[in-house]
Amino acid sequence: MATLRLGDTAPDFTQDSTEGPIQFHKWLGDSWGVLFSHPKDFTPVCTTELGYTAKLKDEFAKRNVKVLAVSVDAVREHKAWVGDIEETQGFKVNFPILADPDRKVADLYDMIHPNASDTLTVRSVFIIGPDKKVKLTLTYPASTGRNVDEIIRVLDSLQLTADYSVATPVNWTDGEDVIIVTAVSDEDAKGRFPKGWKALKPYLRVTPQPNR
Ligand code: BEZ
Repeated sequence: MATLRLGDTAPDFTQDSTEGPIQFHKWLGDSWGVLFSHPKDFTPVCTTELGYTAKLKDEFAKRNVKVLAVSVDAVREHKAWVGDIEETQGFKVNFPILADPDRKVADLYDMIHPNASDTLTVRSVFIIGPDKKVKLTLTYPASTGRNVDEIIRVLDSLQLTADYSVATPVNWTDGEDVIIVTAVSDEDAKGRFPKGWKALKPYLRVTPQPNR
């Protein structure tokens, strides 16, 4: 199985979940998607990640993003774990958790790294665009919880740069100035960026976020 790279089509699958069977591409529809793996049910770091992701429900919804978790455990275990997550994190899980005991999804997305663990998945994140292409991959070890705010930040960048000829600079967050891509000439930029720009170098032109 080949490593998934940016721009590849996200593999389709059908797998059971806490909200019934999910046919991935059909379930995504025209939305963006975040698929993220959890090494095991009833583990502490995963419990905090799922609770925090549930807390950000409105943030994902306003960006037209569907969230899908996956763990190699079964639906029955997931459902019991969801109760613990609500009890300890204060948020009810409001997205499906795939049951992947046959590792279909884990294998398709290369989520098991045998030199880290033969049985547990690493903490993978895939952001998938409405075109079903992989837009971002992240891989964290089991011992490090992910930064879900960073995933939201990347979604903002991906959605902005899909619509405008810009890139986002270091540590950018929504609302801050952006960079005009070098493929756009100054002449072309006059029409595309009517608010103007500051050229720190010919290749480094900073402009206010164009959709604000
Ligand atoms: C956790 O989610 O806490 C965890 C899972 C697997 C290995 C280490 C930590």
